[in-house]
Amino acid sequence: MLGLKLLTDPRWADIAESNLEEILTDHAWCEQKAATNAITLIANNSEHMDLVEELTAIAIEEMQHFQMVVDIIKQRGYTLGRERKDDYVGRLVKFSKRDGSRNAAFIDRLLFAAMIEARSCERFRVLSQNIKDKELARFYHDLMVSEAGHYTTFLNFARKYTIDIDVDKRWKEWLEFEGELIQSFGNKEAIHG
Ligand SMILES: [Fe+2]
Ligand SMILES: [Fe+2]
Repeated sequence: MLGLKLLTDPRWADIAESNLEEILTDHAWCEQKAATNAITLIANNSEHMDLVEELTAIAIEEMQHFQMVVDIIKQRGYTLGRERKDDYVGRLVKFSKRDGSRNAAFIDRLLFAAMIEARSCERFRVLSQNIKDKELARFYHDLMVSEAGHYTTFLNFARKYTIDIDVDKRWKEWLEFEGELIQSFGNKEAIHG
């Protein structure tokens, strides 16, 4: 799925469903961070008008996702907790290249975003197919479709705006790294936990 090397064990969905308040809090902040990441990409690469336009749409959409998750939290009488630390994304940040040329850092930032979209999409699929809560299963199915679109957008911009980075080769490195990394996750009630 989306080139991912390792699919999530469906039993992770049981862990997630055992603590919905926690997974929804973590999820809400994932959406906020996705919006923030899109805004940072816009601010740092404003010379590319098509990127500015498409990532503005993504930033808005991510905040709509945030709003939807917050609505669910409210409807169910839960509390939106503080932002959760995302160790998975922290490891991806460390893997990303920030010390080369401006273009190389830009391309890797796009691939970093594509990677998170791909795994988030996969995790939403696991939730949509395995949780017993019908309302949430439908909700996660819709989000899965949306994040798959974002994944494609980020990857396409990397291919379009590269100067001398071999995007397909670098994307393979991302997939290899992530495939190893994800093996130590899948045991916590967090979207990337
Ligand atoms: Fe989203
Ligand atoms: Fe997204």
